[in-house]
Amino acid sequence: MRKKIVAGNWKMNLDRAAAISLAKEVCELGTAKVSPDVLLIMCTPYVHFETIGNLLPAGKRIALGSQDCSQHASGAYTGEISTEMLTSYNVDYVILGHSERREYYKESDALLASKVNQVLQTEMKVIFCCGETLEERESGKLEEVVRRQLTDGLFHLLPEQMNDVVLAYEPVWAIGTGKTASSAQAQEMHAFIRQLLREKYGETIADNMSILYGGSCKPSNAQELFACADVDGGLIGGASLKASDFIAIATSY
Ligand code: PGA
Repeated sequence: MRKKIVAGNWKMNLDRAAAISLAKEVCELGTAKVSPDVLLIMCTPYVHFETIGNLLPAGKRIALGSQDCSQHASGAYTGEISTEMLTSYNVDYVILGHSERREYYKESDALLASKVNQVLQTEMKVIFCCGETLEERESGKLEEVVRRQLTDGLFHLLPEQMNDVVLAYEPVWAIGTGKTASSAQAQEMHAFIRQLLREKYGETIADNMSILYGGSCKPSNAQELFACADVDGGLIGGASLKASDFIAIATSY
């Protein structure tokens, strides 16, 4: 059975005090209210890993995630963070290929492929994002774009490495805009992605892959999105900054 995952992408938000307060509330509410079948992940800024790592309940029901990492193992790369550093803070997941990284930091599919390799040399798992812009959707290129992102960024992996990958479909036009994909649009793309996985890796890997939806997911629409056959959870931006909203989303299963 596929793992259900609700991951919060905090992006570049919250100072130390606010981050501690949010993480404490997520841990309390998450432990009390969220089904043990749903894995919660908090993808926080790097500087909060130590403090938040110490707040997590035992048993890995709530995991720590990073929003990026370097493609290099170590060395003279000013400002970068290595996968070895992340694992030393008990980080379990790394988001790669978020549209903000692709757009603002010009991260290419080739660069992402090397970051994926770097993460999979450790015990950590990748949350690999894909998704089209509005222009790409309206010009009928959405499937082509998502196919390219997956083929060039991820499909070099061996079948056994795919066990350490989670996918996130995030239509760029829905991120932070308040515009959510309809459940029909989300299901259509998730089914398409699963079909790509089936063609490349076969039935078992395709069936076992968790594919999260991201893009203005909130308590009011999570239930409908999560009811879709191929939607296995969410990657939540804005709504992950309010514990009650994040937990309401996670209890929408
Ligand atoms: P949003 O962001 O929920 O604020 O739209 C989602 C994301 O960027 O992962």
